[in-house]
Amino acid sequence: MSENLPFEERYYQPPYKQLYKQSLEEPEKFWREMAEGLEWFSPFDKVLDESNAPFYRWFVGGKINITYNALDRQVKVRRNKIAIYWENEKGESRQLTYGELYNEVNRFAKILQDLGIKKGDRVLIYLPLMPELPIAMLACARIGAVHSVVFSGFSTQAVIDRINDAKAKLVITTSHTMRRGKRVELKRIIDEAVSQTPSVEKVLVIKRDEEIELNEERDVLYQDLIKRTGYKKVEPEETLSTDPLFILYTSGTTGKPKGILHLHGGYGLWTYLTTQWVFDLRDTDVFFNTADIGWITGHSYIVYGPLQNGASVLMYEGVPDYPNPDRWWELVEKYGVTVFYTSPTAIRSLMKYGEEWVKKHDLSTLRILGSVGEPINPEAWRWYFKNVGNSSLPIVDTWWQTETGGIMISATPGLGNYLLKPSANGLPLPGVDADVFTEDGKQAKPREKGYIVIKRPWPGMLAGVWGDPERYVKTYFSKFPGVYYPGDYAVRDEEGFFYILGRADEVLKIAGHRIGTREIEDILISHPAVAESAVIGVPDPVRGEVAVAAIVLKQGYQPSEELRKSLIEYVKNNLGPIVIFGGLYFVSKLPKTRSGKIMRRVVRSVISGQPLGDVSTLEDETSVDELKKVIEEFT
Ligand code: PRX
Repeated sequence: MSENLPFEERYYQPPYKQLYKQSLEEPEKFWREMAEGLEWFSPFDKVLDESNAPFYRWFVGGKINITYNALDRQVKVRRNKIAIYWENEKGESRQLTYGELYNEVNRFAKILQDLGIKKGDRVLIYLPLMPELPIAMLACARIGAVHSVVFSGFSTQAVIDRINDAKAKLVITTSHTMRRGKRVELKRIIDEAVSQTPSVEKVLVIKRDEEIELNEERDVLYQDLIKRTGYKKVEPEETLSTDPLFILYTSGTTGKPKGILHLHGGYGLWTYLTTQWVFDLRDTDVFFNTADIGWITGHSYIVYGPLQNGASVLMYEGVPDYPNPDRWWELVEKYGVTVFYTSPTAIRSLMKYGEEWVKKHDLSTLRILGSVGEPINPEAWRWYFKNVGNSSLPIVDTWWQTETGGIMISATPGLGNYLLKPSANGLPLPGVDADVFTEDGKQAKPREKGYIVIKRPWPGMLAGVWGDPERYVKTYFSKFPGVYYPGDYAVRDEEGFFYILGRADEVLKIAGHRIGTREIEDILISHPAVAESAVIGVPDPVRGEVAVAAIVLKQGYQPSEELRKSLIEYVKNNLGPIVIFGGLYFVSKLPKTRSGKIMRRVVRSVISGQPLGDVSTLEDETSVDELKKVIEEFT
């Protein structure tokens, strides 16, 4: 038979490989084409300005406002589609269509204008995961003001530091949030903070369900202003691509948090594209990202990425295991969630309750699962894959940072790349020129541990550290001159898959939350009883990592169980309840070098029972013996 049968030797190549290649070989053409995905008020003159490297600027001369792409553009085609579903622990719910969200943001923007907020002014937002949080952010961005959201799990001192660094004119807050059925007071923290923040002129308070006590000179009630103002449309400010959009504070290796700055154009494009590439968002999707908007994950993948793509997002104000450990699965079923994004810590904490809680629900609408914030261990990966993913769904293990603006390394179902290896993050996204360097700045061999680096700029990258250009250069571009240094250890296998292994610096990831050891030390030594402290991170089976402190007390103070508890409480009250301790030990001296520097490396080795390594610079070896003894007595 000489019939023509339809055999084919070539394969269909999913677009990922081709796009990746093109992005590095013809970057100018690539980014020009990609930028066409967004609507611009006026076109840019230059794709990338490298003249003042490493202060790279994207789409220079172009005018664009991220809220135009997230709202105005969407209401033209999907006014009645749900933009935000919201629900709290009690099961109360709200929903906003794109049309309603557009109206709310316009009203809010008008109120900001009436309060004297202008383009470039900083507004600090301290709100829980309620719809007014994204509304307030978008309202700021709409008028060209710069928002700085502080996660509501941070406490007074953290709020004070951030307001003062940003010199915020206005603070937006509400009375409280509920956590495991208990009230968490928020306005009280702002009341304490603003007595120490001279830049703040007004506090805009959003009323929840009850009357709130107001300070007549300083506080204004959002609901009152709305009544007075009514509805007014506010045209979006025609901001430049290079105008500031927001500052988000994150922890580094010093006590002072860094204000990471992102701009309208580059950040807008990066969140828009990565949402498509990684989560493959389509019009019919309901995206549930369990992160808080107070962190970058929520900024990029609850607010800006999904809304610029016209998607529906679900916001849940509560914890996953209250009232029962199936709260999230109940929501997935109720809202028909299709794409679900969470953290390894959350998975590990739900694993403890057993898989029956997942089995109670129909999760058949899900089609993509995601993980973010810290390395996912194989047991958690398998549990997630088997129980939530029905042993069939892809898990995108997305590596990125506050500084990178959006996802950098991951599988990309939206580009046809579903290749997964448990515990590997995957391949770099188009435009991401990632590599692994050894200590001396050479490319690491496959399977050789080194530092991940990004060798050329990408649109979502931070534009700087607020008010501190030197720190930007020093932190990110000095370990390996000319390349971006994220501060994570990594390895790559023969196929080019990246495995991110964890932080290479003094930054902790407690339950996925980024906290600097120095930040905790600074709070501890502000306590009247504490003379010196050394804080390190130790592995924790559920939270990934927890803090351990070694403390030297001031004269006149005696170690006691009560003091231990009150120091832990003190850190939680000042920095925030997100700081979780695995131990707090009292010693009479800390291991130091002869020049008086605390040797945290030695403290870490003793606490984790590891060999001490080189201790030739140690001034007094009895400090190590004492610490060992204290730990032994305690455990
Ligand atoms: O150590 C990496 C870890 O989280 C750090 C960034 O923290 P943050 O700026 O708070 O942003 C978190 C959410 C994007 C990184 O330097 N990290 C984040 N995602 C992963 C990860 N580590 C391993 N795998 C991940 N998927």
